[in-house]
Amino acid sequence: MTHPAYDELAATWKRLHHFGHLQALASWDRSALMPVNGNAARANAMAEMDGLLHGIRTDPVLAGNLDRAERELLDDMQRANVREIRRDWNSANALPAELVQAQSLAGARCEHAWRTQRPANDWAGFLANFREVLSLARRQARYLADRSGLDPYDALMDNYEPGMTARTLDILFGDLERWLPGLVRRVRAKQAAESTMVPVGPYSRAAQYAIGVETMKLLGFDFSAGRLDESAHPFCGGVPEDTRLTTRYREDDFVGSLWGVMHETGHGRYEQNLPRDWLGQPVAWARSAGIHESQSLSFEMQIGLNRSFIGLLAPRMAAHFGAQPAFEADNLHRWLTRVQPSYIRVEADELTYPLHVILRYRIERDLIEGRAEAEDIPALWDAAMASMLDIDTHGNFNNGCMQDVHWGSGLFGYFPSYTLGAMYAAQWFAAIRRETPDLDTRMAAGDLAPAFNWLHENIWRQGSRWTTSELVTRATGEPLNAVHYRRHLEARYLGS
Ligand code: CO
Repeated sequence: MTHPAYDELAATWKRLHHFGHLQALASWDRSALMPVNGNAARANAMAEMDGLLHGIRTDPVLAGNLDRAERELLDDMQRANVREIRRDWNSANALPAELVQAQSLAGARCEHAWRTQRPANDWAGFLANFREVLSLARRQARYLADRSGLDPYDALMDNYEPGMTARTLDILFGDLERWLPGLVRRVRAKQAAESTMVPVGPYSRAAQYAIGVETMKLLGFDFSAGRLDESAHPFCGGVPEDTRLTTRYREDDFVGSLWGVMHETGHGRYEQNLPRDWLGQPVAWARSAGIHESQSLSFEMQIGLNRSFIGLLAPRMAAHFGAQPAFEADNLHRWLTRVQPSYIRVEADELTYPLHVILRYRIERDLIEGRAEAEDIPALWDAAMASMLDIDTHGNFNNGCMQDVHWGSGLFGYFPSYTLGAMYAAQWFAAIRRETPDLDTRMAAGDLAPAFNWLHENIWRQGSRWTTSELVTRATGEPLNAVHYRRHLEARYLGS
């Protein structure tokens, strides 16, 4: 069977993959190694490359090739690939160039000013820049909505979590909201009666690096195709063939770096195990932001805070940091699963984190759909923090609505992916436990293969072959729902 239009598309996306490889490594280097005076030249070089890649993805010849390829006789994988190429083409071609440029400038201005406005608690200053960012994001949402037929907020979310809608989120998050604040209170009451020893530092950077690498090996990371380095904001970058993870170190705390490493290792193993035969094609890309986050949270939370796994880490902590009574496994587990409502999302524990996300989802959706204006944010924020987390943020913009840079830089529709990831991860592990009922015993003995094999078979090597909802149903036998997440949290935090 010949399919000349498909072949041309596949060759184009292979080329994009090769250029993207270099772009990804230049980007990793900028964050991990580049000296500060390299910044201007690097920014210019990368912008030039961005322009080149954008030119390839918007070449007018692609529109005809896509139409023709969709009528050619293709096998299942090729058809899935064309579907994903169409998605990528849409996202590159959906917006007028002047809007993309205006968004990039307004977002950069607002983000740059935010860096000093946040410590100064300067909401009024932030608001002055943010109004423009919001107005451009609303225009972006309308363009995407007109093109896709989706509602404006759904159209933004579709960039990160294809197929997810506010209608579905309202059901999923509405479910969480009914029981999670009550669960937080019950767990806090239970934990108030427990005594916990807190480990004492300092923990040298070298020892934290060494235990990080050892833990990555325990978690199956392939060091022949990846590295661990340091950066101000941890991330997983590079490409599937050469995956670059970073973490950051504080000498008075090892948990941030070590659990950060586990988180990025989850992202990294997903990337390293995407379908190799199709590398470079969109069908071999990670499925979505939420599915990606489900891998990092599988490693950081499902495995990383599991009592059996902590039993594996405890002797390693003693070996790297020196023995102390607080490194006893049951104590470590109690200490690492303490629940404490707090202002800052990225520092939140597993139980209160989703409440931070639901708060942002509700506000950003109202902003995009015009039910709220930029100046309404603090009042909406204060009300939600008080009702969901019993925390007063009144006048505290710094630790309230100015803590994240997502909205300021123009990023809307991304927040739900974090909590969708946690819900997916709980659903994966419910399925893994059905298949391997003695999972905890095997983990305690150092055998993590049942979890990794399941993830490899059902998630990693599927790439983008299926839509997200198909992937979930094929892997677990049911659509995404909050039941497994609730069971997981109750089992871990109430022991029920
Ligand atoms: Co992540």
